[in-house]
Amino acid sequence: MKILLVGATGRLGAALFAALAQRGHHVLGASREHSDHHVDISNCATIAALYERIGPVDAVICAAGSTPYKPLHQLTHDDYLTGFHNKALGQIDLVRLGLPSIAPRGSFTLTTGVLAREPVVTSAAASAANGAVESFVRAAALEAAPVRVNAVSPTVVTEALEQYADFFPGIEPVPLERVVQAYIRSIEGAETGRVFALG
Ligand SMILES: NC(=O)c1ccc[n+]([C@@H]2O[C@H](COP(=O)([O-])OP(=O)(O)OC[C@H]3O[C@@H](n4cnc5c(N)ncnc54)[C@H](OP(=O)(O)O)[C@@H]3O)[C@@H](O)[C@H]2O)c1
Repeated sequence: MKILLVGATGRLGAALFAALAQRGHHVLGASREHSDHHVDISNCATIAALYERIGPVDAVICAAGSTPYKPLHQLTHDDYLTGFHNKALGQIDLVRLGLPSIAPRGSFTLTTGVLAREPVVTSAAASAANGAVESFVRAAALEAAPVRVNAVSPTVVTEALEQYADFFPGIEPVPLERVVQAYIRSIEGAETGRVFALG
């Protein structure tokens, strides 16, 4: 399959790139700076230009998206807007603008996270953005068929625990390898409208 992977240089994205290439897929890596293809998912003009440049694809994965973390009483309107643009609307636009480019039985696989279902202190903006993406996935799948739309929603990955352990006290991490398998299930399987929750 020809697969567009946005966020290809990140912790999840780099592992995905390697695993998908090893399975024989032709992976086009994209991100804002250090990938072969440049895109900023918070800027929909760059998404449209990317699809125009790469032509038809069999699958699109987004392993990018960030949100601010702050105590509830410090979160501003702009913080919520930033989180929504970078995590929710960016991924929604990848689907919206990608529909004309995706193969008839192709798939979109977005990335959310445990904070949609298990919030922690300072996660209000992140939880809201992740929850929006999961609701979008379920709704979009109804109308996109036979194109499929799923999300992978991991808890903190074991390999990132050192960086994030303080944010997730007592929350069990998930090995990156298990997370990668969920994307493979989404891309190579037949399911749609699913949020694959890990951890
Ligand atoms: N790590 C975890 O434990 C974990 C757990 C659950 C969920 N997640 C979610 O999984 C996703 C990836 O996490 P990660 O840890 O792999 O992140 P990461 O290491 O920070 O990598 C992010 C990747 O996305 C790209 N990127 C960032 N903003 C972008 C934008 N606006 N447009 C296009 N590309 C962009 C980055 O490259 P450039 O900087 O070059 O653009 C990079 O390739 C995030 O949505 C994160 O919330 C992560």
